[in-house]
Amino acid sequence: MTSSPDKKQLEEYFSTPRARELLEQLSVAPGDLPPHVAIIMDGNGRWAKRQGKPRLFGHKAGVVAVREAIGACVELGIDYLTIYSFSSENWSRPRDEVSGIMSLFVEVLAKEVRELNEQNVRVRIIGDLDAVPAKTRRAFEDCCASTAANTGLTLVVALNYGGRADILQAVARCVRDSAAGELDLGLGAAGAAGAGAGTGAGTGTGTIDQDAFAARLSTAGIPDPDLLIRTSGEQRLSNFLLWEAAYAELYFTDELWPDFTRESLLQAFCDYQGRSRRYGGV
Ligand code: FPP
Repeated sequence: MTSSPDKKQLEEYFSTPRARELLEQLSVAPGDLPPHVAIIMDGNGRWAKRQGKPRLFGHKAGVVAVREAIGACVELGIDYLTIYSFSSENWSRPRDEVSGIMSLFVEVLAKEVRELNEQNVRVRIIGDLDAVPAKTRRAFEDCCASTAANTGLTLVVALNYGGRADILQAVARCVRDSAAGELDLGLGAAGAAGAGAGTGAGTGTGTIDQDAFAARLSTAGIPDPDLLIRTSGEQRLSNFLLWEAAYAELYFTDELWPDFTRESLLQAFCDYQGRSRRYGGV
């Protein structure tokens, strides 16, 4: 974010008394809000169960909360919002729940793409799309293509994503690039082909370093998350952004994902602004 969002516009969007109260406490000056927010959207199933409804009912309500989070991030000028939509472990759920979620994605993307374009949101996918049903994969690919030229919020959808699998894939890419003489793994004479100075961006011929490794993750080019939110009272990462979240501030709330509102997001941002980020220093 390079400039502060317009205060009047913010007050219109965050219009409830609670939202106004939180907005008062929040600094929206450039650099004060987290540029990259990541969310583990947990609790859809429990939310549905509390109402005696099937789990898919909870996922549908979860989509409304996703829309809220996107809207609030757009208004506040957040650069990146990453949402854990389907993990590589979620395939083990009942078959009808998995197919229901896959169909829900198709339905939602078709309905929302126009709004995403109006909001200047660019959609990007991380994860292994190959195992995703063709119709769902195409819906996401179409949405990414349709929003590719947008310059506002980047919405990163983690789909069939697992942090460990992504790290393994980056290792494999490093080995492949080393064999092609494009990366020096620092293994001495055996790995010296193409050795050069640290690459920074990790492209071209260079030596392995953190940037070169990160450039081979599916999050390449996306800055690390600053704030990682998990709903529903669970306090773990569940294989989400394992490399990238090294210095993320963690925020846990008992709210179930469908209950997470724009006010909830403001509350998380206020909490974030009370943290002291030291990155291992003093
Ligand atoms: C976790 O709740 C939620 C999911 C695995 C699915 C989340 C997906 C959505 C909200 C839809 C997102 C839509 C788009 C377009 C990206 P859970 O089922 O694990 O809840 P539980 O822990 O209470 O069982």
